[in-house]
Amino acid sequence: MLIRRARKEDYPYFAAIEVEHPGYPAWGVKGFEAEENNRNAVTLTAEEEGRPAGFINFWILRPQVQLNTLAVGRDFLRRGAASALIGKMLEYAAKNLCLEIDLEVNEHNAAAIALYAARGFAVVGKRPKFYNNTDAALLMRRTLPAKDL
Ligand SMILES: CC(C)(COP(=O)(O)OP(=O)(O)OC[C@H]1O[C@@H](n2cnc3c(N)ncnc32)[C@H](O)[C@@H]1OP(=O)(O)O)[C@@H](O)C(=O)NCCC(=O)NCCS
Repeated sequence: MLIRRARKEDYPYFAAIEVEHPGYPAWGVKGFEAEENNRNAVTLTAEEEGRPAGFINFWILRPQVQLNTLAVGRDFLRRGAASALIGKMLEYAAKNLCLEIDLEVNEHNAAAIALYAARGFAVVGKRPKFYNNTDAALLMRRTLPAKDL
């Protein structure tokens, strides 16, 4: 599996991956394109079998990193793609001298919560009715002493 910076031609694959996860907030091609104008933004893809198997987007807002979106295609689930993308984000965070990574996750998204917990994130707060005015968002955070990487 290759983790690399995303390119324009990857975005239709990302949009297709989003559609495979009903209910997951979708950015669509335009959303990923808009990130190209944000100099704090990093979008990466996990390439598998010659095509994008998943993506991650985060903002480097030193001393914080904000994880915005992360998804993996159905054919590639449970093969370590998300974990590898998070690992690369941690490298970016360390290189940019960031001290914490923050994210929001739907309280009912057991897979993502398990993934983040396995990568050292802890729940630090909750926003009621965050998604569609019904589901709460859990705020999860990982602090980043460089020696833990
Ligand atoms: C959450 C998601 C990104 C995980 O992607 P993935 O590539 O399958 O995850 P990985 O293979 O790297 O899994 C790493 C670890 O996370 C946990 N995990 C991942 N999926 C899980 C699931 N369905 N149930 C329980 N634990 C899970 C496990 O600890 C797993 O390690 P293991 O496979 O050795 O048990 C994927 O399910 C997805 O795209 N979901 C829809 C979009 C989404 O919810 N994104 C998160 C937004 S906050």
